[in-house]
Formats: sequence, structure tokens, C-alpha cells
Amino acid sequence: MKRTHHCNELRPAHIGQTVTIIGWVHSRRDLGGVIFVDVRDREGRTQTVYDPNLLPKDLFDRVSALRSESVVQITGTVRQRPAGTINTKIATGEVEVLAQQVEVLNQAAVLPFPVDDPEVAAKVNEELRLQYRYLDLRRPEMIRNLRLRSKVAMATRNYMDEQGFLDVETPTLFKSTPEGAREFLVPCRTSPGQFYALPQSPQQFKQILMVGGVERYYQLARCYRDEDLRADRQPEFTQVDIEMSFIDREDIYNLIEGLLKRIWKTALNVDLPTPFLRMPFVDALNRYGIDKPDTRFGLELADFTEEFRHSGFKVFSGTVASGGVIKAINAKGLACATQGQIEAMTETAKSFGAKGLAYIKVEKGEWKSPIVKFFGAPEKEALTKKLGIEEGDLVLFAADQWLNACEILGKIRLYCAEVLKTQGKLTISPTQFNFLWVVDFPLLSFDKEMNRWYSSHHPFTSPVEADIPLLLTEPKKVRGQHYDIVVNGVELGGGSIRIHQPEVQKVLFEQVLQIPADMVQARFGYMLEAFRYGAPPHGGIALGFDRLVAILCGTTSIRDVIAFPKTAKGTDLMTQSPAAVDAKQLRDLHIELKLPKKD
Ligand code: AMO
Ligand code: AMP
Repeated sequence: MKRTHHCNELRPAHIGQTVTIIGWVHSRRDLGGVIFVDVRDREGRTQTVYDPNLLPKDLFDRVSALRSESVVQITGTVRQRPAGTINTKIATGEVEVLAQQVEVLNQAAVLPFPVDDPEVAAKVNEELRLQYRYLDLRRPEMIRNLRLRSKVAMATRNYMDEQGFLDVETPTLFKSTPEGAREFLVPCRTSPGQFYALPQSPQQFKQILMVGGVERYYQLARCYRDEDLRADRQPEFTQVDIEMSFIDREDIYNLIEGLLKRIWKTALNVDLPTPFLRMPFVDALNRYGIDKPDTRFGLELADFTEEFRHSGFKVFSGTVASGGVIKAINAKGLACATQGQIEAMTETAKSFGAKGLAYIKVEKGEWKSPIVKFFGAPEKEALTKKLGIEEGDLVLFAADQWLNACEILGKIRLYCAEVLKTQGKLTISPTQFNFLWVVDFPLLSFDKEMNRWYSSHHPFTSPVEADIPLLLTEPKKVRGQHYDIVVNGVELGGGSIRIHQPEVQKVLFEQVLQIPADMVQARFGYMLEAFRYGAPPHGGIALGFDRLVAILCGTTSIRDVIAFPKTAKGTDLMTQSPAAVDAKQLRDLHIELKLPKKD
């Protein structure tokens, strides 16, 4: 049972040859006697022809009864298609195979959804696609995505190998160290009442590998996080995980720029210009209202704190008096925004705790807004000048504490861009890739509810050396050696130079993050111990591999580039997992269930 050619191979040069192809029945057309069957395999499609005058009746009947997606093996002669029937859309479109033998290897049942028509397939509900993922994967776009993923993985491995990195596997059964996202727990049968956790990332192991003298480590590592899922988040996902010794931040930037250059060239034949732009965290927030700015379009935030410090509009001057800021954006050409759109934006502002969202519509030469009457001439002039206000514009304001004001307008900026895109007023080329490094993050952020500091990245991130003395006196001012790589508004990866001095790590855990000493010992004792025996200075980064491939494939959902993804609820619809286990399995693990009451 062997093919002589795949379904994307036959060309006029093969005319006259006897060939065997194997694949799925992509489509079947009955044209008054003669039947045409397009056979599809992973590589493409070939048209096969069945002439009742040339074939035994039983064979012809079998072909007449073929259902879509049945698996067939066909032997026949390659011939030129008659003039006027050439299909320029497929690579094999100049020829067809006149069938002599047909073997039905598996007759397919009636399909839950059609696989052959991309337009219909695009409309099939995703849950159905996930339930019958094997059918979904047959679609050429899905095969293309998996192929690209494989190619990018290979390019990554080649590049990392050339750079002297060792591919080292790290355990999937790890220890619970609840620091970042919630973990998945795994009960241990041989130690009743004890649990492993699945690693959120190989962070601790890769640092220990540096202590182990590996110097340069990488891995396409599986990570597990029990968090709320979205289009760009899965409970299990893959990172290109990297760690190196004896380096500083510049070495990481160079390495990753080289890697991404290689990947873009291999996958898309695009030459990425390097070095990438570097943007301090504060600038990213001030200008784009987010720490992963999409710089493919403007609509930048502007600051009017000084202009409104003494304003007659008390909402604004009051905010400034209490230490807040006034920020605004000009959504160019959006004065036509509907009431619903304005309300959606106002809800965004309110979700950040703001009382409202002030705005001005510029229509018929007039500034339409309930608040304009409170503005003086200099205020209006400053707005016009800084925001370039013109007829048809929509100006939106946030008056709040700095971070909140930035984040509110950051969200609204993205919302406005989407609206402008649907109105055709903003176009972004699908081949534009705006990479940048976000740098100079504060080491710590403050959690008001918990009234304590937490790590902006993770607790192994090193402070800028000169700021170490400020850790206990002015934690707010301590700069971290953390960096994020961003493309088109997507956080592709992040990393940092690490703490390698056990005493600094201990101070950070116990005195800054206020984790009780016994808990630090139980969770991270082994790491602090390891650092006492010659820990090299080191640092690293992890790129979200699924996100990377999704960007290369031009899709916004990482589910499209993962063979068997989970739904937003974390379920696998094909295998129906998670699922209940039987009582014996639980008894063996010494686990008793106490389930919430169903209402
Ligand atoms: P971080 O938590 O920033 O860093 O993760 C690195 C990158 O992994 C991707 N990512 C995800 N992709 C899909 N689904 C998810 N649930 C998900 N969560 C994260 C993102 C992100 O930028 N150990 C550190 C790295 C280091 O310091 O070296 C870490 O995991 O693209
Ligand atoms: P008020 O005087 O509270 O009715 O507010 C007047 C206008 O200011 C309304 O349009 C509100 O939506 C808007 N507004 C209130 N608080 C804020 C804020 N924090 N930032 C921006 N606009 C606000």
C-alpha cells in the first residue's frame, strides 16, 4: 500500500505515467456519467477521473457511493486536462489522473461539518471543531499552522545549538511554590497527603542548571498555569525557555534579536531590522497606557496635568490636587462614535474605579461636551495644540492616579483602534511587525488590597545593583533588571537578570515580600542553599512559543496553532477531560471528595 506521488506533486511532466496516490475524498462531482474526485493529502489536492465506459461496473459503483473524507488509494494514468478545465488555484491543476484501480481503505461516515469548503469551515462553531479536532486538523490552514510551528521549532533549535546552548529537559512533576499563577496539583500515591505541582515554568530548575555549571540552557518547555483563559492563554503552553551565565541584559537582547531574525527569515522570508526599539516602562505607560504597546498606530496619550492644575473644572483640578494626573487621547475621526460605543468606553473607565469618562465630540466646528463650558481659553488652546484637534475628532479624558489614568486610556486607545479599523479609517498591514523591548521596570509593585509589595516580574529578578541598598528603605524606587519583548501589542516574552547572592534573595523574600522565614525555607530553602556553593551571575528569558507561532500564522488565537487545545473553561472536548475518576483511584491516593452542592 504505497503511493508513488503525494497529492501536490503531479505536473505536465508526469503525463503518461502510471501513478498511485492515497488520500481523503475532498470532493466528488458527478457530471452526467463521468465522476471527478479530488483526492487530498497533507500536501495538496489532485483531481481523479472515473469513466463508466473504461471501468468495471462494480468499481464505478463504489466510486459513485464514496462519501466525503473517505480514505482511498487510486492508481491511474496522468493526463493533460482538456483546455478550459485547467484549475489555476491548485498546483496540480493542469493534470488529472484517469483512474484504473480504486481501493476504499475506509469509508467515512456522514461528517458533523464539512471539511472541504474554507468559507463554511470558518463559520463552524469552535466547540464543534474542537470536539472533532481530527477533522478540523485536516483543513489546509490547520496543517499549514502545524507545519509552520514545526519549522519554527526546528529553526529555534538550530539557532540555539549554534549559539552553544544545551537542550536540557526539566521535570514536570515539581513542587508547589505558589508565587505567580495558580498551580495544578498532582497527588502522590506513595506519599499520602503530599502533592507535586506542575511547573508554571522551569524557572527554578534553569537557575539551578546555572549553579550546576551548564552555562547555556534552552528548552522548548511545557508550562502549566491554572488561570483564567483567553485567546492568548492556555492552561498548558510552550515556552522557548533560556538561561545563561556570565552575561548582562545586552547579551539577552542580542541573542533574542538574532533568534527572532532567524525565525522570521525561515518562516516568512522577512528580514527583521535590528536592534529593536527599547522603551522604558514609564514611557510605554505614558504614551500607550500599557506595558505591551502596539506601536503600529498613533492615538498616543497626552498629559494635561499642568494645564488643568488650576482649572475651573473641579473634577480635573481636584484630581490634580490629590496627586493625580489628567490624560487625554484624540480618537481621530471618531466623533461619529455611537452612544453604545461611548457607554462601552465609560464602562471600561468605571471598571478601573473611575467615576466616569469625560469626552468631547468635535462636530460642525463645535466642541460638543457638557464639560467644555468649564474650560478656559488657554486650556482649549493647549488641547487643540497637543492633540491636533480637528473637525470629526473625539477627545477622551481620564482624570485619576497616574497608573489608573494611563491604563484606562490604554484600553480605550485599543478599543478606538478596533472601531476605526471596522470603519476603514485605520488600516494595519498584516506584514508589519513592530518589535520592541520594554525595559526599566520597577522591581516591585504595590498591592493596595493586600497592603504589601509584590514582584513586578518574579521574585528571582535582580534589582539594578546600585539600588540594592534601597530595598528596605525605598522599595518603590528600586529598578529591576527585567525586560519584556513585545510585538504588535502582544507580550511575546519576558525575563530578567537574576539574583545570585543568597543573602539578597533572602532579604527580598523575607523582608520585602514578607514571606515568613519558615515558609521561605520550606519553599525555596534548596535554592538559597544552592546559591551558597558558587552560584554564577546569570539571567534569562522565556518566549511564549504558541504566541510566537500564532503571530507568524496571522491568527489572534493560540488555539489555532496548538494541535489539541483546551476551551476557555479548560476542557478538552474531544477526550472529554477533565473527568471523574473511580472510587478506587481516589482511595489509593487517600483522597476524599467534598464537592460543592449543585443548585
Ligand atoms: P512569563 O510568566 O512572563 O515568564 O512567561 C513568558 C511568556 O510565556 C507566555 N505565556 C503564555 N502563553 C500561553 N498561555 C499562557 N497561559 C501563558 N502564560 C505566559 C507569554 C509570556 O511572555 N520564567 C519566566 C521567564 C524568565 O524570567 O526567564 C516566565 O515564565 O508569551
Ligand atoms: P461629574 O461632575 O462627576 O458629573 O463629572 C463630569 C464629567 O466628568 C462626566 O462626563 C464624567 O463622566 C467625567 N468624569 C468624572 N470623573 C472622571 C474621571 N476620573 N476621569 C475622566 N472623566 C471623569
